[in-house]
Amino acid sequence: MKNITVIGSGTMGNGIAHTFALHGYSVSLVDLNEQALTKAIDIIQRNLDRQISKSKLTENEKIATLNNITTFTDLKGAVAEADLVIEAATENEAVKSRLFNELDDLCADATILASNTSSISITQLASNTKRPDKVIGMHFMNPVPMMQLVEVIRGYRTSEAVTITIFTLAAKLQKTPVIVQDYPGFIANRILMPMINEAIYSLYEGVAGVMEIDTVMKLGMAHPMGPLQLADFIGLDVCLAILKVLHEGFGNSKYAPCPLLTNMVAAGHLGKKSTIGFYDYRQSDAKELIVASRFSNSRF
Ligand code: NAI
Repeated sequence: MKNITVIGSGTMGNGIAHTFALHGYSVSLVDLNEQALTKAIDIIQRNLDRQISKSKLTENEKIATLNNITTFTDLKGAVAEADLVIEAATENEAVKSRLFNELDDLCADATILASNTSSISITQLASNTKRPDKVIGMHFMNPVPMMQLVEVIRGYRTSEAVTITIFTLAAKLQKTPVIVQDYPGFIANRILMPMINEAIYSLYEGVAGVMEIDTVMKLGMAHPMGPLQLADFIGLDVCLAILKVLHEGFGNSKYAPCPLLTNMVAAGHLGKKSTIGFYDYRQSDAKELIVASRFSNSRF
């Protein structure tokens, strides 16, 4: 395993490219246009600088890391030498299915095709290829360079050998891999999203305000971040999409997204990325509470 191709240079793609390049792998980073790639390299550079300022990295290591990354807008060129492709494109089943179909044609027979999807079935993605034994989930957490966990998702037809290869690779990145089976939400989101949804329901029903709900979980359960703040960081549209996958995949009403979440997404209040979610991110210092309860907010 030497040449890694990362498809999509957004939030996750640039973090995955950063992590592999830092560990000496040769990384081909692909996106639809040059602007996205320039932005990604800029973010990687700033994140490496932050590591230097904390004395966790040297200037030479930064240069070596950046030298390990080559950018592409052409998929064929980007995968020519790939031992492993990690797809981190937009969370949309049609986009990913098309990509897996194309990758199957473009890549060498031995190339492993992984997806960083949060919720789309690996078995479904694999069905777009003639190599379902070599298709696997490699689910990094955000921010990738900082977070320890990699969920390794074994599709229905993923081979044992490929599972071991990806498990070993994640360990070489100094991450902790965990193998899970391919069912809706895998493990991370199957547990996290119902908790976030329940926090939103508690707000919707007026049981408590935003600050109170987050404070209970931070101080009472030792969570570093409350569920509503975490939802803002993940993106409320992403949370809604994952809950829909859980709801549909299990056919169980316990996963039904809270109507308040649906409303907020429809209103464009998507969390940090849109500057408003459960908190107000328009000013860098003050995070003001947004009154989002169905009833009047019970905060006093
Ligand atoms: P993003 O929207 O920040 O980035 C996606 C990138 O993919 C964009 O730059 C887009 O231009 C590019 N793209 C779309 N179609 C493409 C194609 N056909 N070829 C090449 N590039 C293409 O999305 P983000 O947040 O990085 O998510 C990527 C994947 O990672 C999704 O599957 C998501 O579910 C998953 N994920 C996201 C996490 C998060 O916290 N944001 C956490 C864990 C997984």
